[in-house]
This record gives sequence, structure tokens and C-alpha cells, in this order.
Amino acid sequence: MIPLHLLAFIFPFALLLLLRKPPHPYHSFAKELPFPPTIRRDAGVWKTNDDLSAAEFIPQNPPLHKPETAFVRQSDCQVYVTDCRGILWYLASNHSAFHPYAVPGGALLGGDVHQPSGALYVCDATRGLLFIPPDPSKAHTQIVASALSADPLDKITFCNDVHVAEDGKVYFTAASKLSVQQVMHKAVPDVMSTFVADAILGEASGRLLLYDPETRLTTQIADGLSFANGVAVHPSGQYALVVETSSFSIRKILLLGDTCGQKRTLTRIPGYGDGISYDAVADCFWVTLTSPITRLSYVIPYIPVFLRRLLIDIPLSGLIPKHSRSMIAAIDGNSGAVLTTFEGSVKKFGHLSAARRCKDDLWISLLTVNTIARLRISKKLRAK
Ligand SMILES: *[C@@H]1O[C@H](CO)[C@@H](O)[C@H](O)[C@H]1NC(C)=O
Repeated sequence: MIPLHLLAFIFPFALLLLLRKPPHPYHSFAKELPFPPTIRRDAGVWKTNDDLSAAEFIPQNPPLHKPETAFVRQSDCQVYVTDCRGILWYLASNHSAFHPYAVPGGALLGGDVHQPSGALYVCDATRGLLFIPPDPSKAHTQIVASALSADPLDKITFCNDVHVAEDGKVYFTAASKLSVQQVMHKAVPDVMSTFVADAILGEASGRLLLYDPETRLTTQIADGLSFANGVAVHPSGQYALVVETSSFSIRKILLLGDTCGQKRTLTRIPGYGDGISYDAVADCFWVTLTSPITRLSYVIPYIPVFLRRLLIDIPLSGLIPKHSRSMIAAIDGNSGAVLTTFEGSVKKFGHLSAARRCKDDLWISLLTVNTIARLRISKKLRAK
């Protein structure tokens, strides 16, 4: 059944096509789209629970707007939060309020701390990788990577998440070759619609990139990723885990020597993966699943290319079905085994987008609730 409002969109666009719509800049619509996995969400390691209800909300003071990632300086557990209006906030040490830390503009998504210096790296989905100096009152934010060093025409579109490895090298993802657009009269760039457009294009055009602060060069580690979302590097430096949202997978990408850039699927997940981070206390990775897989994702692989051509330019985020559950999962980086999950209702927590640990706290970004939450993780995680 095609909903009526979808038809209302399709009809005028079909008319436009008849009136010789100019050719679309993206010709390469994939013929075969990834099909969602059939993992049961009501059994085994993914069994539904309400364990997120123990999390404590940080007051909306002031309310944030789509806080995609809360990330943490490990030395004192200082929390920073990105906001899609181009504001980077820091959380007061008594957790009572957010204060602006830097206002670089754009649409800020993932972020991370260069732990030795306290400098920050933040992904702006519209321009590329940003560097925020340790004291933003003394120096400006810089765009450190907006294209590959080897080819300035090879632009970094849709910078999504960043992780500073132990050796200071900065790994970041470009989710798609589509650029994030400001749609019509919306006040902020529409990240969600671009995600949907990428799924409709179906081409795996996401990349894992490397910015080396010593040489100031930006290089490509791997391409062909199906919406490259969160990235986290293992402290050994041997591999990165990248959340491939549109293939419902976590990919392991090797980083060293001759095998650098090789990728394989570590595990598939029963939802739309978003952020991922390494937890040094429990030696595992925290992955967020913003929601279970919806029926729409089982339909998209069957939509023929000519129809996808019509749909791709329509801001479709309004069509994304409403979900009821959102969760975080702890995953073993070697085996891909699920160690534990914390799940909650979207009514209360909205959609979770990232989780980062500092000491006994897991800081969770609540993308659609306009604040963040803190979950105490004291017990050791055991395999289920
Ligand atoms: C937190 O600290 C600020 C000043 O830094 C103070 O005004 C506020 O009352 C404190 N809030 C709580 C809940 O302690």
C-alpha cells in the first residue's frame, strides 16, 4: 500500500519528468539494494528490555537541537555536545546547564577529544572536518579537511563521525557522496532527508578517511560503505569499526600495513545503527540503534530505478515511520558478540544517537529529546 501523501509527492514530480526534468547529477542508482537482516528482536541477545529506565536526564537548560553526539574528555569527564544548528556546547561541571563552547556553524554531528591537548575535532555535515583549539577564546575553529589532499575536487561530503586514535591520527567518516542540503525554509540543514535520499540512491558511497595532524594530509582508507556512520578505532590501532547504517552492519576495517583498508562484516544488527565508541573499562564497543528496522526498509529494495529517480529529490524525512523503541548495545570487537543491551521507549528517550563512557558513566545523546542522559554502568559486562 502506497500512502496517499506519497502519491501526492510522486504525481507532480512525474509531471516534471514529462516536462523534461534536467538529468540528475547522480546517475548511478544501484540496481540492487542491501536487504535488511532477519534478526529476531524478541529473542536471545536482542530480547526487549527496559534497562534504560535507570538513566538520568540532564536538564534541558537551554534545550539543545538534535544533539547528535555527546563526547567526553577522559581526564575529568568534561562532556561536550554537538547541536545541528552549528553550536558546540559544554556541560557545566555540576550538570545543571549547557554553555556554548564554540559556534562554528554548519550542522555538527560526531565529535571527539584529542585527549592529551584537549583540542576537539568535530564533523560538520556541510563542510567537512573541523578543529577546535584547546582554548576557543584564543584561536579560531579551522576546517582541516574539506577534500582529499590528492585531489581537491574530491570533496568530503557529509562528514559524519570522528575518532582521534591513541597515536593522534584522526579517523572520520563521510557518510555518502550526497551533500547535506538546506531544504526550503528549514532553519537547519536536513541531515535526515539526505540519509533517506542516500538509501534511495542505493549506491554504497560512504568512506572512511584519515586526517594526519602532523602532515596535515587527508587520505582515504576505505570506500564503498553503505552510509558510513559512527567510527571507533581500537586502542591497538589495528582496526576501526564503522557503523554501516543502510546495510544494518558493523564493518571491521583494517588500518595497518599492506592490509590497510580491507573490510569485513563484524556483525549485522536489527536496527538503524548510528554512533559507536570504544569503552576502555569493559574493552567493548557501544553501538546505538536509533530504532528497530521498519517495514519501509524492506520495501525500498523492491522500488524500481525509474521510481527512485523521482523520489530522490523529495525531502522524505516526514515519511520515516514513527518508532517505539531505541537502544544501545555493547559489542565485543573480536567476535561481534552482543554483551548487553539497554533499551527504552522513544516516548521517553526519543532516538538515541551516540553513547560514550567516562569512568562509571555512559553519556547518551538523545537526538530527538533535545538533551542528553547519564547511565551508571558499574557492573562488569558479561556475555549474554
Ligand atoms: C551549578 O553551578 C552554578 C554556578 O556554576 C550555580 O549557579 C547552580 O546553582 C549550580 N546548580 C546546582 C544544581 O548545584
